[in-house]
Amino acid sequence: MARPQPVKTERLLLEPFSEKFLTRRYVAWLNDDAVTAFSRHRHGRHTIASCREYFNGMLKAGNILWAMVVRDDPSLGHIGNIAAYFDRANGIADVTVLIGEPAAQGRGYASEAWFAACDWLFEKAGMRKITAGTMETNVAMRAIMKRAGMVEDGRRARHYLQGGGEVDLVYAALFRENWLKRRGLTLTRPRTNRTRSRARRRASPSARRRP
Ligand SMILES: CC(C)(COP(=O)(O)OP(=O)(O)OC[C@H]1O[C@@H](n2cnc3c(N)ncnc32)[C@H](O)[C@@H]1OP(=O)(O)O)[C@@H](O)C(=O)NCCC(=O)NCCS
Repeated sequence: MARPQPVKTERLLLEPFSEKFLTRRYVAWLNDDAVTAFSRHRHGRHTIASCREYFNGMLKAGNILWAMVVRDDPSLGHIGNIAAYFDRANGIADVTVLIGEPAAQGRGYASEAWFAACDWLFEKAGMRKITAGTMETNVAMRAIMKRAGMVEDGRRARHYLQGGGEVDLVYAALFRENWLKRRGLTLTRPRTNRTRSRARRRASPSARRRP
């Protein structure tokens, strides 16, 4: 299992989440109706304790939570989080993102983090498919999915109630080979048990051919 690692992008550092990010500022994002209009967080009140519980649950489940930290503007600092929930048996990661800091929205940070997380999940974590789901009305999130080359992967009709209306939940998916082709990266095969044991045999001195 790939351990969460820091990931650097042009303007951001995706830092594995830790206690230092459990701040009042972070909690305030989750209690801000404007930030949570499209997310399940809108249904509850959040506290440092509830955020710590979520973070510990992510660690225990072997999922990844990265804090997004702006590198080129220290006044912004921690602006949101990006998370990957694994279904390792099937090589799938479901990704969600939240930009909590209002001053950081609409500046391309979520897209930048999304592309970097996809790179990491395909390249380092060996995932085969990345999925995401959002309300049909979440124009910004759907734009990110589209730009990442994700394709519709089903929908649940009239799934949520938002502002008194019924809204579809739209799923999207991105497959490893399509992503690597788009990024112009070398296509390495996802690691299966067979390729893993082949790699172990190659690494083992007794399996090396003698001259
Ligand atoms: C959705 C969200 C992650 C977008 O973050 P962001 O950093 O503002 O997004 P970006 O600046 O990278 O923009 C992504 C795209 O959305 C568009 N966009 C950004 N804000 C928008 C808005 N308010 N209305 C319409 N489009 C918007 C951008 O133009 C861009 O489109 P493009 O690639 O076609 O140019 C952020 O608004 C957020 O965290 N919202 C709350 C949580 C949430 O909804 N998460 C998604 C569920 S997984």
